[in-house]
Amino acid sequence: MKIVIINGSARKGNTLTAINAFIKGADEKNEIEVIAPDKLHISPCKGCGACQCHKGCVDQDDTNPTINKLVEADMILFATPVYWWGMTAQLKQVIDKCYCRGLQLKEKKIGLIVVGGSPLDNIQYELICKQFDCMASYLSWDMLFQKCYYANARDELAKDVDAIQKLENLGKHV
Ligand SMILES: Cc1cc2nc3c(=O)[nH]c(=O)nc-3n(C[C@H](O)[C@H](O)[C@H](O)COP(=O)(O)O)c2cc1C
Repeated sequence: MKIVIINGSARKGNTLTAINAFIKGADEKNEIEVIAPDKLHISPCKGCGACQCHKGCVDQDDTNPTINKLVEADMILFATPVYWWGMTAQLKQVIDKCYCRGLQLKEKKIGLIVVGGSPLDNIQYELICKQFDCMASYLSWDMLFQKCYYANARDELAKDVDAIQKLENLGKHV
């Protein structure tokens, strides 16, 4: 499979640790690309609607090349820290821009990784997972997994040997 991973974190921290563990398991059998939105120039969606009559977004930045990668992917892995009870703006910005090719993003295999600095009984994890469930239902996505982790300091998830092992296994079996 062609797997595209969107890293919603700008720091080399827990989300990247989770992504790398997943890649370790998955890269033997799959072609993987990681998108780091913080390194790209993607302006926010203006809601101009021009994309509905033309091919793609009118913004002459990294929007169209990024969305093209998602359209070509068999699987998209969304990975994000929790910021203010939600996904990060970096990840949301890419998702908003998917509006320009929405229907071409149908029927993808999807994974979701969420890392927050609060325990797993915090409602934030449910809110984020539900939001992705709604997108999955709208775009007929096959939701393979949604994994949430409690880790705050940048190196915390890396110390959770069990979580890292399970993420590698997840990668092996997608
Ligand atoms: C701007 C900002 C907002 C945050 N908001 C939340 C939050 O609402 N809930 C929470 O549990 N953690 C929150 N955190 C903590 C991060 O989710 C946590 O540190 C996470 O491990 C960061 O992931 P990273 O290391 O991949 O960047 C916030 C951190 C930042 C910088």
